[in-house]
Amino acid sequence: MAEKVFIFDTTLRDGEQSPGCSMNLDEKLQMARQLERLNVDILEAGFPVASQGDFEAVKAVAAEIRGPIIAGLARANQLDIDRAWGALKEAARPRIHTFLATSDIHLQYKLHKTREEILKMISGAVGQAKSFCDDVEFSPEDAGRTDRSYLIECCHAAVEAGATVLNLPDTVGYCMEPEYEQMFAEVKARVPGMDKVVLSTHPHDDLGMAVANTLAGIRGGARQVECTINGIGERAGNAALEEIVMALYVRRDFMPFYTELHPAELFASSQLLTRLTGVAVQRNKAIVGRNAFAHEAGIHQDGVLKRSITYEIMTPQTIGMTSNEIVLGKHSGRHALAKRYEELGYQLTKPEIERVYQLFSQLADRKKNIYDEDLIAIVDEGFQNLPEMYTLKLFQIVSSSDGGSTATIELELEGEAFRDSATAEGPCDAAFRVIDRIIGIPGVIADFSVHTVGPGAEGVAEVTIRARFRGHEFTAKATSHNVVEAAARAYLSAANKAAYELKRRQASAEEASESVQTN
Ligand code: KIV
Ligand code: ZN
Repeated sequence: MAEKVFIFDTTLRDGEQSPGCSMNLDEKLQMARQLERLNVDILEAGFPVASQGDFEAVKAVAAEIRGPIIAGLARANQLDIDRAWGALKEAARPRIHTFLATSDIHLQYKLHKTREEILKMISGAVGQAKSFCDDVEFSPEDAGRTDRSYLIECCHAAVEAGATVLNLPDTVGYCMEPEYEQMFAEVKARVPGMDKVVLSTHPHDDLGMAVANTLAGIRGGARQVECTINGIGERAGNAALEEIVMALYVRRDFMPFYTELHPAELFASSQLLTRLTGVAVQRNKAIVGRNAFAHEAGIHQDGVLKRSITYEIMTPQTIGMTSNEIVLGKHSGRHALAKRYEELGYQLTKPEIERVYQLFSQLADRKKNIYDEDLIAIVDEGFQNLPEMYTLKLFQIVSSSDGGSTATIELELEGEAFRDSATAEGPCDAAFRVIDRIIGIPGVIADFSVHTVGPGAEGVAEVTIRARFRGHEFTAKATSHNVVEAAARAYLSAANKAAYELKRRQASAEEASESVQTN
């Protein structure tokens, strides 16, 4: 009989920790709602002690998301565990996930502690977590490089103190499949009381083995897998959730396991994460890459047209990717557009549909065929639901061959128009400077990338910008037929996020200082 494998999603914790993937509170909530639609079993919402922002995000997710178990990470010390519980206590089903490194390399160079001291810390931390909630997960960090007998002792200490889940991370992505499988089999066989404990995998992808090692861990006895959407995570990333789920689904004949995930939400989850972080997956990414179901060679096209099974081991519809060409044209209405977005996995509110519809109409005036890719790209601009938002009303660039460009831009905020001009060496710089002047928070570009979406001459430019405003980075993406306009729109979107977030932070700092004064 097939056995269930529990999906533990750590996109909002290990994933969010990776460079360029940070999200604000509103973005984390959007992602958490999508993960709930995807039906993940456990959602690790963050590392509450890491910052006030992380604490608030975990608290907000715990208060709103009722389907999955909500986990929060804590190092094996009192403050971290207190803080984790503070953020988690409103969850319908909370889990404290505490961890401590156990490899000699980490003990000697990072923690400067003896093996005995570590064992005591594990018992203390798991015991403290257990005093708050029943569901406690323990991770011996760097388990993959930990001396096996000592690992068994650490796991034993955690189980005796009440851990209900034991996660064995390959923190540095070093293990080979048979080794990783064997580690699970040994822990299961040698640690007393394992019949009541769930074993969990957590490999990193430094050698490109994270998904293969996850499957190896399952073969060794793990029934929970820790993974992230698009495989985002520290360094080379974590194991990609969509790859694990589809490998288990497509090869259920070979591995007798199932998950309760809704695969039709995979593509939408991947797209949403890309939109929120601005970090795109490579075209040939398994399952959710743009080319994952594209057939270029004539022989392949011929085969797929005759019978898709010739070259497709799963259909794009299974993961929620609908047929690529859209029949919507410039006469299509809001209803048809909203329905199409729904099919693509986007739940748009009325104001969002209105905004997306305006962008769609502009594009349909200029472009005969509108593809799903175009719709996904333009939703970036239509989706902004920040309360105070500057919108682009007018955009004009004059560039001359002897260098120097002048941008004139008009932005609107709550019905009031602001127009200004600036000159700089390049047209994008000039546009950014005008936006800086109007919004009043100057930004510095940290990353700028352009690529085309849609086929050939029909393609539109998609610009992704990562910019730093007052020490905080924000990422945004925009599309247009005009590269400079796409850049200006992306920069404006990042500046809007910055203005909103900085204002929110200031308000919560003021609130905190008021409560200190009144206490
Ligand atoms: O990779 C790792 O070891 C981790 C732990 C905190 C679980 O992310
Ligand atoms: Zn990790």
